[in-house]
Parts: sequence; structure tokens; C-alpha cells
Amino acid sequence: MVPPQRLRLAAIGCGSRTFIYFELAAKQPDLYEIVAAADHSPARLAKARALSQNPAFREFHDDGAILAEPKLADLMIIATQDAFHFAHASAALRRGYDLLLEKPISTNLRDVLALEKLAAELGRRVLVCHVLRYTPFYRKVKAIVASGVLGQIVSFEATEGVEPWHQAHSFVRGHWAVTEKATPMIIAKSCHDTDILSWLIDSRCVSLSSFGGILHFRAEQAPAGAPARCTDGCPVGDTCLYNALRYVGDRKGWLDIIFDRAKTATDAEIIAWLAKSPWGRCVYRCDNTAVDHQTLNMVFASGATGTFTMTAFSEGRDLAIFGTKARLLAGERVKRTAGCDIIVEDHATHALDRIKIDFDKDGWHGGGDAGLIRMLHGEMGKPRAEDMESSLQRSVESHLIGFAAEEARQTGMTLNLAEVRARLSSP
Ligand SMILES: NC(=O)c1ccc[n+]([C@@H]2O[C@H](COP(=O)([O-])OP(=O)(O)OC[C@H]3O[C@@H](n4cnc5c(N)ncnc54)[C@H](O)[C@@H]3O)[C@@H](O)[C@H]2O)c1
Repeated sequence: MVPPQRLRLAAIGCGSRTFIYFELAAKQPDLYEIVAAADHSPARLAKARALSQNPAFREFHDDGAILAEPKLADLMIIATQDAFHFAHASAALRRGYDLLLEKPISTNLRDVLALEKLAAELGRRVLVCHVLRYTPFYRKVKAIVASGVLGQIVSFEATEGVEPWHQAHSFVRGHWAVTEKATPMIIAKSCHDTDILSWLIDSRCVSLSSFGGILHFRAEQAPAGAPARCTDGCPVGDTCLYNALRYVGDRKGWLDIIFDRAKTATDAEIIAWLAKSPWGRCVYRCDNTAVDHQTLNMVFASGATGTFTMTAFSEGRDLAIFGTKARLLAGERVKRTAGCDIIVEDHATHALDRIKIDFDKDGWHGGGDAGLIRMLHGEMGKPRAEDMESSLQRSVESHLIGFAAEEARQTGMTLNLAEVRARLSSP
């Protein structure tokens, strides 16, 4: 598709993600026009309308209503919750839309592969919101690897620290706590990492094993006397890291993404809401099945090997890439200890190249949201859909790794990814 002068955007699902994309797109009126959105919530549609800065903006009460119309935009943003992505994305593709599709592509690998097939059959393009690819940080790491300065990549170690409060908010109390109703943790949180790693290594992962589970967020770890809800008066409330009453204190910002009246409600109203909402529950007494730690051990077609660890009990991402000529260290620990973002150390001379990144403060994800919207128009104009930076075709790789890792974790087996793909592909 050659994009028109201005790319017309519409959205199914007006939550935090669509709001971020609309806000960023509205700042570039030469590239984008926001024309319509669908959501069950009138309040969210009103916010989407305000962000669109378009008096002709059209509102629809759900996916069925917007898709019943003739095609009214060039690109449909699919930003409902994980479990709806496949249905909404398939229907929008069939209606003639190209897509900006929130990750995960779907909650299971069979649907991921089916969507890839459907998009190919219909000749549509799908850009998956793997926003880290658009961050100045990872673009710099990619450029260093591609420059050859590290030599041949032999191995890597990567870590994603979810951070304890974030784990509790999203994966113990929140939308992704019950894997069976959402997506396995390794996909929900870490498909960005499996995407970035296969992009940096520039080779397909051919086989992997994985281990992990829930070590901390379980009933046996509950402090003595802790009630089912923090709002019921917990004896350790004053010292508990996860006290839900922090939502009216130092963690108020987190309410914005789950409670529409976060900015206007009084503390008493918020506490009354917490007394009934999933976010008021004791983190040791939830129905969570999402793991709080998991490791992956991977082999790539190039012969390189690497490990990835997701843990609730660290913060931010760390990366070490070991090449035949030099090693690269990057991320949170480097930033905290060395005062720069990336270090490249030459094996022969031990010369250190210390690199600082100018982070884009617009949007979240280290500038990834802003980078994605900045590049979206150009990506849609690329001659081949699969060459888009985070095309569906490329993004399937990260989901294949993630879903195979979950199966490997549950079965204790080492899996061959070509076999997993073949087993779950429809004829
Ligand atoms: N790319 C990233 O880094 C990133 C970060 C966070 C979340 N996500 C993903 O983005 C997606 C959206 O997240 P969010 O936080 O914006 O979610 P959200 O729950 O805030 O918003 C989803 C919206 O979809 C609406 N909706 C549900 N069914 C609908 C239907 N049939 N028709 C129209 N609207 C419908 C809901 O009313 C809700 O407003 C999730 O899948 C999440 O995993 C991606």
C-alpha cells in the first residue's frame, strides 16, 4: 500500500494504548487524520474524540458497528484486550483494513499463525506494536551489532525486571493475572524481549527450553493475619510493598490505566472502588496463575546461544551480547553503575566505548510509542509488507519463541521451533 498524503486512523478499543497513539498522531497532522473509534464506553469515546482534534470524528459502540460501515480509514488500530485481538483483527482485515495491531497478536499460537496466513491471502499489511524496536536505545544497539564491531555474535544474556509493584498490578491482581483468560506471562510481558533478541541476533531461534513458576505471589507467603483485601485493615499494611492503599498515595498514577475517574475521584471514592475491585485484593490471596519468574535457554540458526530471564524482582532491562571481537553491555545496570546506557569493550585493546542515549520523553516505553507513530506512515509506504520494521511476518517469530517457551516450561521438554510451528499451522 502506498499511503495517501495523510494516513486516516480508526481504532477498535479505546483504552490507554489507543489514547497514547491518538495523542501522538494528533501532534503530526501532516501525517495523520484520526477519523473514528469504537468502544463500549461513552466516556472513553468522548476522550478519543477530544484527542482526535477532528470535528468530523465518528463514534461507534463496538467492533460490529464500526465494521458494518464501509471502510472509513486506511489503518485500523486494534487495541482491545488480548483475548479479542484475533477476532477483531481478522474481521477488520476482511473488511479491507490494514492494521496497527497491539501485542500480543493473539493468546495462542494457532491463531497467530492463522492471522499471518489470512493477512497474506488478503494481501493486507499488519504492523504489530513491538514498540521497543522504535526506541533510540535498541536502534543504537542494533546499529552496533550490524556494524560488525562486535564480530560474530556467539552468545547473549538478557533480563527483564518487571518490578514488584508492576508485577502485582498487572500480573497478580490485573488483566494478565490469570493466564487461562489472557496470555502466558512470557508472551504478555516478554514478547517484546523475544522480538528484540531475535531482531538483534538476526537469526531464527531453532530450539529452546524453559523453567519458571510462581515463587512469591502465593497463599503460603501471606503475612499472618492478612485479610483478603487491603481495604479490610491489614496488620502489616504499613510495611507491605503491595498495600492497595498506595493507589491513593505514592502509586496513584497507576490508577489512570484501570479507573476512568482516577483524576477526579476523591480518595474515599477510590478506596470504596478498591474495596470491590480486583486491585484491592491481597496479592497473596488472588487467583493468579501468571509466573513471577521464568528463564529461557535458546539456540539460534546461526549457532549463537542465549538466555533470557523474566523476573518480578528486578527493574528494567539488561543486555549483554558477546561477540568474537568485542562485548556489549547495556541497560539498567550499566546506567546505574556506569552512568551511560551502552558500553562496548574491545577484546584486543580493552578500549571502552561509553554511549549515552538521548531518550525521547514523548509517550512511554523509552520513546518507543513516539518512535512507532513517527515511523508508522513511512512503514506503511514500504513496498513489501513483510519488510515493515515490526511486520506481522517478523513478529510471528517472537510469539513462536514465547508460546514454545510456555509449552517447554510446562512440559520440561526442549522444543524444536520448526516442529512447533508445523504442528500448529493450519493446512
Ligand atoms: N505495545 C505495548 O507495549 C503494550 C503495552 C500495554 C498494553 N498493550 C496491549 O494493548 C492492548 C490494550 O491495552 P489497554 O491497556 O489499552 O486496554 P484497556 O483495557 O484499557 O482498553 C481496551 C478497550 O477495549 C474496549 N473494548 C472491549 N471490547 C470491545 C469491542 N467489542 N468493541 C470495541 N471496544 C471494545 C474496552 O471497553 C476498553 O476500553 C492489550 O492487548 C495489551 O496487552 C501493549
